[in-house]
Amino acid sequence: MTQPDMAYPNPAGIKRVAVLTSGGDAPGMNAAIRAVVRTGAQQGIEVVGVRRGFSGLHRGEVQLLGPRDVANTIQRGGTILLTARSHTWRSPEGRAKGAAVLREWGVDGLVVIGGDGSFHGGYFLQEEHGIPVIGVPGTIDNDLYGTDHTIGYFTAVETALEAVDKLRDTGASHERIFVIEVMGRHAGHIALDVAVAGGAEEVFIPEDKKPIGDVVNIVKDSIAKGKRGSIIIVAEGYDGGAEAVAQAIHAGTGLETRVSILGHIQRGGTPVSSDRILASRLGEAAVYALMDGKKGVMVGRIGGGIAYTPLHETWEKRKDVSRDLYRCAKMLSI
Ligand code: F6P
Repeated sequence: MTQPDMAYPNPAGIKRVAVLTSGGDAPGMNAAIRAVVRTGAQQGIEVVGVRRGFSGLHRGEVQLLGPRDVANTIQRGGTILLTARSHTWRSPEGRAKGAAVLREWGVDGLVVIGGDGSFHGGYFLQEEHGIPVIGVPGTIDNDLYGTDHTIGYFTAVETALEAVDKLRDTGASHERIFVIEVMGRHAGHIALDVAVAGGAEEVFIPEDKKPIGDVVNIVKDSIAKGKRGSIIIVAEGYDGGAEAVAQAIHAGTGLETRVSILGHIQRGGTPVSSDRILASRLGEAAVYALMDGKKGVMVGRIGGGIAYTPLHETWEKRKDVSRDLYRCAKMLSI
């Protein structure tokens, strides 16, 4: 039942919406699912949840979700709908099966919460079968064009930073060099934030192909300046990752070096408030977008407002890292 002061116009005549999470999970995905379900309920729209992303969709893993089904989920990491990286979905036959399931369930539009791989899936579904798709950016990597931040990114940075602070304690006590690898398959957003907030000596990101050998002089310089240990942050997507950087340091300086790869720990945990708020706003906006008759767009947040970006642009155009932050990281590592 729609509360009278909450009613949003529905020129597209949307009656039933499906929501799924796909690809790597991200803290805050549950807050986004909750926002879709509860906005739908407020607007008199039924919401069905698809389990296990696109893999579950073509197998018909669909269930109705009401406001109580998403109670006590806003603070939970992971995704209550489960997620998967689907191979079947890459074939037109797989997508046809998924489309048939959505038609069977009388779905007027699909909300896809995920990253660029998931948006590819949604884009082809819409192109081939005419089902309106709205993307909600959910990935810790923050690598989607069309939004300042993606859901999960803020939490991942906090998790990685907490680890860096701890590694700094042991690194300083042993006067060691610590090379710490953070996630980011193709992007250095997490690495850069963590480097600045964690006071790192140097940061290696895929967006800047500086030679690995540079690290040797950086470490030698820092020793000459009286530093006794160093923290070097490496994004997973930088050639060779942390292991390669550590080997270069050891070969060039002979200094005791340790590697720590933070890995999937960065994808878990209670979402921080910024992720919950972003997810809540974008989940709500995704339902409104379908009611407006929008399709094939991602809802994002740019400068505090809701922005709509064609799905294909989210992966075709590149969101660069903040060059100011990169400069700042170097400036402060004196
Ligand atoms: O979701 C993004 C991400 O965490 C990347 O940073 C990382 O490279 C990848 O997922 C890992 O994926 P998987 O969980 O499939 O190993």
